[in-house]
Amino acid sequence: MGWKASTNFLVIFMLVLVCRIGLCHSKCDFDAIFNFGDSNSDTGGFWSAFPAQSGPFGMTYFKKPVGRASDGRLIVDFLAQALGLPFLSPYLQSIGSNYKNGANYATLASTVLLPKTSLFVTGISPFSLAIQLNQMKQFKTKVNEEHQLGTTLPSPNIFGKSLYTFYIGQNDFTSNLAAIGIGGVQQYLPQVVSQIAGTIKELYNLGGRTFLVLNLAPVGCYPSFLVELPHNSSDIDEFGCLVSYNNAVADYNKKLKETLRQTRESLSDASVIYVDTHAVLLELFRRPTSHGLKYGTKACCGYGGGDYNFNPNVYCGNTKEINGRNVTATACDDPYNYVSWDGVHATEAANKLTTFAILNGSYSDPPFLFQEHCDLQPIG
Ligand SMILES: *[C@@H]1O[C@H](CO)[C@@H](O)[C@H](O)[C@H]1NC(C)=O
Ligand SMILES: *[C@@H]1O[C@H](CO)[C@@H](O)[C@H](O)[C@H]1NC(C)=O
Ligand SMILES: *[C@@H]1O[C@H](CO)[C@@H](O)[C@H](O)[C@H]1NC(C)=O
Repeated sequence: MGWKASTNFLVIFMLVLVCRIGLCHSKCDFDAIFNFGDSNSDTGGFWSAFPAQSGPFGMTYFKKPVGRASDGRLIVDFLAQALGLPFLSPYLQSIGSNYKNGANYATLASTVLLPKTSLFVTGISPFSLAIQLNQMKQFKTKVNEEHQLGTTLPSPNIFGKSLYTFYIGQNDFTSNLAAIGIGGVQQYLPQVVSQIAGTIKELYNLGGRTFLVLNLAPVGCYPSFLVELPHNSSDIDEFGCLVSYNNAVADYNKKLKETLRQTRESLSDASVIYVDTHAVLLELFRRPTSHGLKYGTKACCGYGGGDYNFNPNVYCGNTKEINGRNVTATACDDPYNYVSWDGVHATEAANKLTTFAILNGSYSDPPFLFQEHCDLQPIG
């Protein structure tokens, strides 16, 4: 062996050693994630703006409330981990944020359409999708102007090497259901879908090329809606879910899928991926025991016990006087056995199973094979 060959050998040996101790970076087409959404993907934005979150939120993974509407990690957290990226910092979080690998614009209670008091009942976030897009534009402007000044901003060429994720629309669907019914809500769902498509086109103009859109979850299986929405027993299917509401969600998802197909055709050099998380969650709600869980339509954190363990007067973590007695909605001891964390949001266990399905690629249209883009990291 000549000195050159032995030097090469040494370099390879050193590389293997460096990788073994975890210092080598694995290959991934995506250097960042930019996420748009509501509580299902909010990593702390809402509670940064309005600090108040209490336990038991965060109990499973973070061991304290960290602004996520779950006992632990969200789908967007697991995706970041799988791509070898840190958890996304909320755009609204002024302390401790690092945006080198993306930013999260999602906030709890966000809608796609602008919240108008005439349209939406109270409890809707001001940070609708149009605002989130404006924040993204501002972010890009700042990166172009100031990236060399700070250590917490990415390089200006990151926008083409990023994954843009959407998990939003649920509040447009649910927040008016009790007031105007399914028929009323269906009047404006086409606007919701076209607003999402329009946002993708704007992000494309900012340099984005890969878009992952998670569809709407089967809210008819959520403990909160099973308790709160008017229905009679003939509207409950064999799995205990509300048929009419789940059918309306399926209609919406069909529209979304078709509109994204058109968007894909108009942006020929972009990947516009529709992800059927609805199918994954519906399967978990229907057959929890086939997936290592125990309970489908029963919330882990709530008050009242019974089939749903949900009382709309006292949400997870809160204490209220009910029938002359102070009661607290507490968490179960085994959130890893549940799909529903608090009656509305998914547990870390359900989020992890859903992420596995997304990473698998078979729930995507067109199929999107993550492992062809990245050396996927274990999400444990
Ligand atoms: C249940 O609701 C459906 C639709 O709202 C209605 O057509 C049906 O008559 C109701 N059934 C009963 C037993 O009330
Ligand atoms: C419930 O708690 C509140 C606040 O601590 C207190 O003012 C109230 O008297 C309590 N009610 C009962 C019935 O114990
Ligand atoms: C995706 O899941 C299907 C069904 O469980 C399985 O057959 C397939 O091997 C998986 N693909 C990958 C890439 O993991």
